[in-house]
Order: sequence, then structure tokens, then C-alpha cells
Amino acid sequence: METIVSGARPTGRLHLGHLHGALKNWVGLQKDYRCFFFVADWHALTTDYATPQGIQQSSIEMATDWLSVGLDPQRCVLFRQSRIKAHAELHLLLSMITPLPWLERNPTYKEQIKELVGKDLSTYGFLGYPVLQAADIIMYKANKVPVGVDQAPHVELTREIVRRFNQLYGPIFPEPEVLLTEAQRLPGLDGRKMSKSYNNAVFLSDSPKEIDQKLSRMMTDPARVRRQDPGEPEKCPAFQLHKIYCTADEIDYVSKGCRTAGIGCLDCKKVMIKHVIAELAPVQEKRAALEKRPAEVGDVLATGNRVAQEKAAETMDEVRAAIGL
Ligand code: TRP
Ligand code: SF4
Repeated sequence: METIVSGARPTGRLHLGHLHGALKNWVGLQKDYRCFFFVADWHALTTDYATPQGIQQSSIEMATDWLSVGLDPQRCVLFRQSRIKAHAELHLLLSMITPLPWLERNPTYKEQIKELVGKDLSTYGFLGYPVLQAADIIMYKANKVPVGVDQAPHVELTREIVRRFNQLYGPIFPEPEVLLTEAQRLPGLDGRKMSKSYNNAVFLSDSPKEIDQKLSRMMTDPARVRRQDPGEPEKCPAFQLHKIYCTADEIDYVSKGCRTAGIGCLDCKKVMIKHVIAELAPVQEKRAALEKRPAEVGDVLATGNRVAQEKAAETMDEVRAAIGL
């Protein structure tokens, strides 16, 4: 069976964007691959080193959501990066062979420095972010790495580092391939991309009542000011959710209703909202069960850490021998 590795920074409670982006994809992959999924808490420090207070709780919250959506600890290894010290050792060794220009030309690096104003990102750790990511990936000899397009350059860089390592020290690592997660860009309540930091998200743990309230207020076609104004679904952010959630008949019904001003926006949204609530019902049931046993998430991670640790120790033995340490 081929191996898959992917990680996510601990962002706390996850939202619908995560579910339709990475999570559903991960849940599907665990049937066909040996999967390692981890909380990238060291990566969180590369940008949030000045405010590390939330990392512990965010890690647990995120892992709780992972289990709630159906990542199954019987089928995949769920662990925490900072618990496997070998990632730091491999990062160090890879940093020796990674030319600086490879890091400096990384598009994500340039972009983030520009975007995250107010944070001093002129650090060694931030520049080396993709080297740490390469260590994460090859530690488990990943064949495939499921990520969104934004992360693809990092996997590309990992491949280059692997080629260099194998050339210098012998063929130890497979070159991992990107398994591109289809970017189903989910609009948030204000029409921008759904994101916790935009405060426009529907969280997986929101109650049905909160979901209903949030989505009832979601932005619609701005041209539809009054009930009697006809609208255009394609210009309506809420309708993007209809397209994901509703049946063909429902989409037909609301599209016609919108264009003829036959239905109001609230009635239109109700058709979609019931699907969102239904989709999240089993997730929330699982979450409620987990919250009754607060030790469980920690236990799952502890077990995953042990399994990851064993595999990492094997890899590092090979690596040290190859380099001659
Ligand atoms: N950099 C990734 C992100 O911000 C998280 C990550 C860290 C990762 N290590 C990884 C993803 C290894 C895939 C494989 O989303
Ligand atoms: Fe959007 Fe529906 Fe309102 Fe049309 S009727 S603007 S599709 S919410």
C-alpha cells in the first residue's frame, strides 16, 4: 500500500471550507493508502512565534474535528508534529543540502511576507518552513501528499530536496507526488473565501440554530434589494452553496424563483440550509460523544505519536547510516 502524508496547522475549530477542502478528501484516502495525518504545530510557530498561547488548545480542537468527520484512528495515524523530535533532526540535515535560492524564490514565502504585515517574518525559521515540511513528508517515505494548490510549490521543493539527498547519500527516499485537492472554493457569509480570520465561517461545531441564523444572513445577489426585485443566482454567494448542497430539482426551482422574483431569499436559502444541517448532524453527534470523554482525543494522538515515532526512528537510522554519522 502506498503512503500518504499530510498535515495542517492547528487553527482550532474547523469550518465548512475545511470540510469541503481537505477533510472529505482525507477521509476518502484512508481506505486506499497508509495515511499519516498530523497537527503541524511547529509550523504554526513559524508565523505565530510571538503568540503561541493558543496552540495547545487549537491542536486538540482540530483533532476533535478530524475524528468527528470520520478520520478513523484504526485506519490512519493521527499525530502531533512537535511530539516527534526526529522531524527536527531531519529538518536540520536537510537544511545542510538545501540551497538558499530554492527557498528565497518560493512563491508562498514572498506572498506571505507581503500579506502578513504586522508580523516580523524575516526569521530563519520562516524561510526554512518548506524544509521542515519536506522533513515531515519524507520521514514517512510518502508517495503522495494531498494538498491544495497553495501548498504545491512546497511539495515540488520537497522533490528537489529528495533528488539531491538521494544523489549525495544514496537512494533512501521516494519522490513524493502532489495529490492536488480539488479547490472547491467555499464562499463565506460575506461572499469572500470562508476563513476563520474573516469572521465569515460556519463551523462544523455550530449548532443547527447557529447554522440557520448565520446562513439566513448570508450575502445574496446585491441587485435583489427588495422582495419583488428579480435576482441572478450566479451573482449570489449563497447560491454557490446551493450548487454544492442541493439536488438538481432544487437548484432548478430556486434559480427560476430567483430570476422571476417568485421566491424570497430566505425561502430560497432554507432549501439549502436544511442540507447543511443534515450533513453536519452525524459530525456533531460524533463530536458530542467525544466531548463526553475528554481524554479520548489525547489518547488517540498519544497512540498515533507512538506509531509515527517508530517509523521515524527507522527512517532516521537509515539516514544517519547513509550520511555516515
Ligand atoms: N504547510 C502546510 C499548511 O500550511 C501544513 C503542513 C506542514 C503540511 N507540513 C506538511 C502539509 C506536510 C502537507 C505535508 O497547510
Ligand atoms: Fe440568492 Fe436565492 Fe436570493 Fe436568488 S433568491 S439572490 S439565489 S438567495
